Amino acid sequence: MKLKYIALLFFALLIVTPTLANVKPAPEWGPTGHRVVGKIADNYLKGSTKRAIQKLLNRQSLAFVSTYGDEIKSDDRYRKFGTWHYVNMEANQSYEDSKKNPKGDAVVGAEYCVSVLKDKNATDDDKAFYLKLLIHIIGDIHQPMHAGLEADKGGNDIDVKWMGKSTNLHRIWDSDMINGYDMSYTELASNADALSKEQIKSIEAGTITDWVNETHTLANAIYKDVKTGDNLGYKYAYNNLSVARSQIQKGGIRLARLLNDIF
Ligand code: ADE
Ligand code: ZN
Ligand code: ZN
Repeated sequence: MKLKYIALLFFALLIVTPTLANVKPAPEWGPTGHRVVGKIADNYLKGSTKRAIQKLLNRQSLAFVSTYGDEIKSDDRYRKFGTWHYVNMEANQSYEDSKKNPKGDAVVGAEYCVSVLKDKNATDDDKAFYLKLLIHIIGDIHQPMHAGLEADKGGNDIDVKWMGKSTNLHRIWDSDMINGYDMSYTELASNADALSKEQIKSIEAGTITDWVNETHTLANAIYKDVKTGDNLGYKYAYNNLSVARSQIQKGGIRLARLLNDIF
C-alpha cells in the first residue's frame, strides 16, 4: 500500500518538476550572447592582459567563464549579487538622474568588480570571482532590456509570442532572437562587423555609466515598437538582430578595454 503512494508521488514529481523549471526566469543574455562577448573581447586583449587573466582563471577562456554570473544565481550564498545583472531607469532618464536600487545594480556591481581587481591586497580567489562576474555583467549591460523599466522588470512582464511560442520581450532579447539565428558563439564572434580604427576608438571610449545610458536609449526604442500580445518573428529579427549583434560586439570591445586598463 505504502509503495503505491511512493510510486504515485514519484510520477507526480516527474510531471511537476519540468513544469516548475519552465516558469523560472530566463537566463540573462542567454549563454550565446555572453560567450560571444567573451570571444570578441579576446581579440582586443593585450598580451600582458591575456597572461594575467589566464593565470587568474586557470586557463579557462573568457567565453567559458562568461556565464558564471548566471550559474551561481540559484545558489543562496550568492543571492546578494542578483541585482547586479541589470539596471532600471524611467524612460529617457539617465543613470545619473535615476532612482538607485538600494540592493545595487549592474553599474554598482561592475564598478565593485573593477575595484577588487585593482586592489593589491585582494586575494587571487577573490580576483578570479570578481573577474568572472565582471565579464558577465559587461555582457548584461549591453542587452537593451537589462537597462529597461522597473515597472515591467525590463520587459519580463511584457508577454509576447516568438514565432508563435509564448515568451516575453526580455527573453526575446536575452536569447530567442539570437538563438533563432542559429549560429554558434564562435561563428557569431568571427562574423562580427568589420570596424575601422576610429569606430573601435569611439566604442572603447566612455565609462560604464555612459554605456548603460546608451543601452537604455535602445531599450526606450524597443518598448515603443512592441506591445503585449504581439507575435514577433522573422520581420522583428530582420529589423533588430543587427542591434543585438552590434551591442554584443560593443560589449566585447569594452570588456577588453576595461581589462587592459586593469591588468
Ligand atoms: N531581471 C530580473 N529583474 C529585472 C529587471 N527589473 N530589469 C531587468 N532585468 C531583470
Ligand atoms: Zn546576467
Ligand atoms: Zn536577461
